[in-house]
Amino acid sequence: MKKVLVINSSARSLKSQSRKLTEVFINHWKNIHNDAVINTRELGNTDVPHINEDWITAAFTPETTRSVAQMETLKLSDAYITELHEADVIVLGSPMYNWSIPSALKAYIDQIVRVNETFTFNRADVQNPYTGLLENKTLFLLLSRGEPGYEKGDYNEHMDFQSTYLKTVFNIIGISNIHVITVSGLSYGPEKLKRSIDTSHQDIRNLIERELA
Ligand SMILES: Cc1cc2nc3c(=O)[nH]c(=O)nc-3n(C[C@H](O)[C@H](O)[C@H](O)COP(=O)(O)O)c2cc1C
Repeated sequence: MKKVLVINSSARSLKSQSRKLTEVFINHWKNIHNDAVINTRELGNTDVPHINEDWITAAFTPETTRSVAQMETLKLSDAYITELHEADVIVLGSPMYNWSIPSALKAYIDQIVRVNETFTFNRADVQNPYTGLLENKTLFLLLSRGEPGYEKGDYNEHMDFQSTYLKTVFNIIGISNIHVITVSGLSYGPEKLKRSIDTSHQDIRNLIERELA
């Protein structure tokens, strides 16, 4: 049975469209798998610590020589990384904030992009300088935005630092099988909102079935 990790990063709770997307994913996954194994990681409504100098020193100290205090400093990062390694399917719900991602999600990314844990340097090849260590995983990026027009070739494409950034980071740590589903245009009134929501929810169900086949 594939293990699923669902990560939510919206600062909103009940009104959140990205949380609704992850909920649609969970419900459809459970419909298909009676014995579904789903873990969740909350980022939007908790304090995700920013990395600091102690953290950086600890992360670059070889594991065998780390002090007890350094191991403690990396404890949450270790926990985040372990659950990523354990998951087969990662489902990340993220709003667009200021054309990018919520700061809590950025803080999480700083905690999980860690040398010898999720990537190594490949100094021999300047054009391909990283080797990702997360293997055989599928990532579903379930993204919400207020405005439309961020899709490929569309008028706001150049403003999308949300999907492009997330795809790049997860690719570097080893995940190449990435699916993006967006709900957008929420600022454009109830009709467009409903259409976008209905389409994205159906896209999630279709994608789950396609990935399973
Ligand atoms: C602080 C903040 C910044 C936002 N910045 C953008 C933005 O740059 N572009 C955009 O299209 N929508 C923006 N929005 C709208 C959100 O992306 C939209 O409301 C989305 O549904 C939020 O995700 P959620 O419903 O999961 O909370 C912003 C909303 C907030 C609260």
